[in-house]
Amino acid sequence: MVKICCLGAGYVGGPTMAVIALKCPDIEVVVVDIFEPRIIAWNSDHLPIYEPGLDDVVKQCRGKNLFFSKDVEKHVAEADIVFVSVNTPTKTQGLGAGKAADLAYWESAARMIADVSRTDKIVVEKSTVPVKTAEAIEKILTHNSKGINFQILSNPEFLAEGTAIQDLFNPDRVLIGGRETPEGKKAIQALKDVYAHWVPVERIICTNLWSAELSKLAANAFLAQRISSVNAMSALCEATGADVSQVSHAIGKDTRIGPKFLNASVGFGGSCFQKDILNLVYICECNGLPEVATYWKQVVQVNEYQKTRFVNRMVSSMFNTVSGKKIAILGFAFKKDTGDTRETPAIGVCQGLLGDKAILSIYDPQVSQEQIQRDLSMHKSELDRPPRLQPASPTAMKQVTCVWDAYEAAKGAHGICILTEWDEFKTLDYQKIYDDMQKPAFVFDGRNVVDVDKLRQIGFIVYTIGKPLDAWLKDMPAVA
Ligand code: NAI
Repeated sequence: MVKICCLGAGYVGGPTMAVIALKCPDIEVVVVDIFEPRIIAWNSDHLPIYEPGLDDVVKQCRGKNLFFSKDVEKHVAEADIVFVSVNTPTKTQGLGAGKAADLAYWESAARMIADVSRTDKIVVEKSTVPVKTAEAIEKILTHNSKGINFQILSNPEFLAEGTAIQDLFNPDRVLIGGRETPEGKKAIQALKDVYAHWVPVERIICTNLWSAELSKLAANAFLAQRISSVNAMSALCEATGADVSQVSHAIGKDTRIGPKFLNASVGFGGSCFQKDILNLVYICECNGLPEVATYWKQVVQVNEYQKTRFVNRMVSSMFNTVSGKKIAILGFAFKKDTGDTRETPAIGVCQGLLGDKAILSIYDPQVSQEQIQRDLSMHKSELDRPPRLQPASPTAMKQVTCVWDAYEAAKGAHGICILTEWDEFKTLDYQKIYDDMQKPAFVFDGRNVVDVDKLRQIGFIVYTIGKPLDAWLKDMPAVA
């Protein structure tokens, strides 16, 4: 029986390995993590991450051929294939701080693998890493190997949180990069055999190591760039009376452009897009390509601009001050169907409103009060972060409450601000909400989920990103 061990039981390691175990009953999969509470949660009825369909997959194979353990060294030593799916955040200190990927977790994982291995192994980069990382990892492994043969493969993950199980069951492609030597090709084939249990072989792309590593950064840069492009267009729509949804629909019909990832919003979030673009920017700078670096940096800067623009629009619409006014924040996760708040635009928007002394009542169906409080008071190492979107002070945090119901959040509020596109926000009883609010009652929709005409008929003053402004908002233009 082939044995797989995965280092890192996070948003990628957990779901990816659960699906491999489900689809490959002849393979034993052990997911290990140095953070014990996560392992305890994976072995309980309350998995550490929320992802539609994940519970079912885990229940079907946990205890059969899927195991979660904190015994990292034992399972690495026993494995034929070791996936490394540890976190690779942006460096906060030292050379490249604020841009470069912090590979400390990766390096310590590689040293540990070299240390405990007694048999040949395939080591798979699952984490997103800078191009050429495999070379460094190879050096660490071979210089500490005691004669053991390690083959390094790059197998970046393209799943999206919220649809991870669907994406893993039916991936657009699986990418495997490896050395072009006979041993390298053999390792590629071994990993290909794993995926071929359920992925059609024509969707398994094999490349050299550097192409695979760079393709992941390139994919995230292209996806984020589409969002920043449509968001930049949304500002122009508001200034001219065009409707960004109509523009997106019209341009998306062009098969060269395509319809996906053209929804204007308050901005992208999640642990990957910003981190990976900043990493790309750093790599370009290190390779003497400042023009290419500037091009990609702008994608992140437009994202910051969009958040600031949104906050400014809210404040200016509400008579240029939100001081002492209750604002209901609906949604805090960076997208629907996840409880993940890493880099969620809600952080910047809430911090901006708190900076203007608003009183926030926050509701998200999947995010805990502790998480929200941690996020709002956290210092971040973001690139060129505007001074307005800075961490909330302890005094400001007293103005934040978290509630478990959208109606409760909106009770007595001056405005509602939608920051995550949870389906339930489309079907709320907005008449009931309106009746319980201060007047004039405002809705600021950062995800374009509400029926604008219906809400305006009820009496709300509605702002949705990139849509024609009503008379009220036209009189109060927001400049970021
Ligand atoms: P995460 O933070 O949820 O999980 C990483 C886990 O690795 C943590 O639980 C941590 O305790 C553990 N860890 C760190 N060092 C370890 C070690 N030496 N041994 C064992 N465990 C160790 O991170 P996430 O979101 O799963 O991301 C992992 C990687 O995958 C990152 O490089 C990320 O960029 C990439 N990625 C993430 C995607 C996402 O949607 N979250 C999608 C595609 C790639």
